[in-house]
Amino acid sequence: MPDTSTSASHVLDRVLVLEMVRVTEAAAIAASALIGRGDEKAADAAAVEAMRRAFDDLAIDGTVVIGEGERDEAPMLYIGEKVGGARGTGPKIDIALDPLEGTTITAKAGPNALAVLAAAEEGCLLNAPDVYMEKLAVGPGYPPGVIDLAKTPRENVEAVAKAKGVRPDQLIVCVLDRPRHAALIAELRAIGCGIQLIPDGDVAGVIATTDEATTIDLYMGSGGAPEGVLAAAALRCVGGQFNGRLLFRNEGEKARARQCGIEDLDRIYLLDDLAKGDCIFAATGVTDGSLLEGVKHRRKGCMTTESVVMRASSGTVRWVRGEHRTG
Ligand code: FBP
Repeated sequence: MPDTSTSASHVLDRVLVLEMVRVTEAAAIAASALIGRGDEKAADAAAVEAMRRAFDDLAIDGTVVIGEGERDEAPMLYIGEKVGGARGTGPKIDIALDPLEGTTITAKAGPNALAVLAAAEEGCLLNAPDVYMEKLAVGPGYPPGVIDLAKTPRENVEAVAKAKGVRPDQLIVCVLDRPRHAALIAELRAIGCGIQLIPDGDVAGVIATTDEATTIDLYMGSGGAPEGVLAAAALRCVGGQFNGRLLFRNEGEKARARQCGIEDLDRIYLLDDLAKGDCIFAATGVTDGSLLEGVKHRRKGCMTTESVVMRASSGTVRWVRGEHRTG
């Protein structure tokens, strides 16, 4: 029997780090059956259901703080749902999750779809409403404050280029390919930066700034606020800087933010504001991408997965390759 009387930090330490990979693996494997099948909803539903079941094997009293939506709109893994096999008795852990980050990517068999989650002690993850967030991220090794959302894209590019010791036009910026980013893209083109336009999946886009092999220096542009918290949790573990500011399209979205306890709607959030204290980030590739290989259905009833799990307090990053028998 697992010891469920321990504190949250002890559990983060001893049990959860590797156990979390089982949860993202389960979601990724379930979603993988729907890769390239043109059905976003079915792929998402399969990932959600598998992730929900996998949580039951963890001896935690988990609460979903970022999930599939509000209780009335999401049947499973909704915000506030209790998860884990030790509900009411085990250590209290807050969880931000996206069982399938990149539903459209999966439906179209594109790159960089992931199953992701972040776990932290109670109260350490921002309860972000499901609105857009303006995001600005850079990888590790730069002086604190090198990026600042209050400044223009040009000023940020110039600051990062100066700190890197290169010309601004030598930087590569990752941006979601959306009409709303036309002005940003025009500004970056005027500077002469390389722009990697991604169709979806900005969690992977933000994390790509931390990996020199991707050659991506900066991430810029708006995407989902929940994905911003997940990406921030990853950067807390591997280093890098992140600025995020919530964007509201109407009064209803502002009201949702206030319901989440957010008073200053214009606030620029830094990494520690989004994911503080000790936290864990885990991801499993669904489709091949810059961070992880996707699920592969091999011959002779074998399936392989690739996952990464990271922990903020130790800075340890573990790459986990799984082989799963399917029959
Ligand atoms: P889904 O997995 O929910 O489809 O999200 C994919 C994604 O690209 C995120 O990575 C990103 O934050 C968000 O959608 C951007 O939203 P939009 O498609 O409205 O621009």
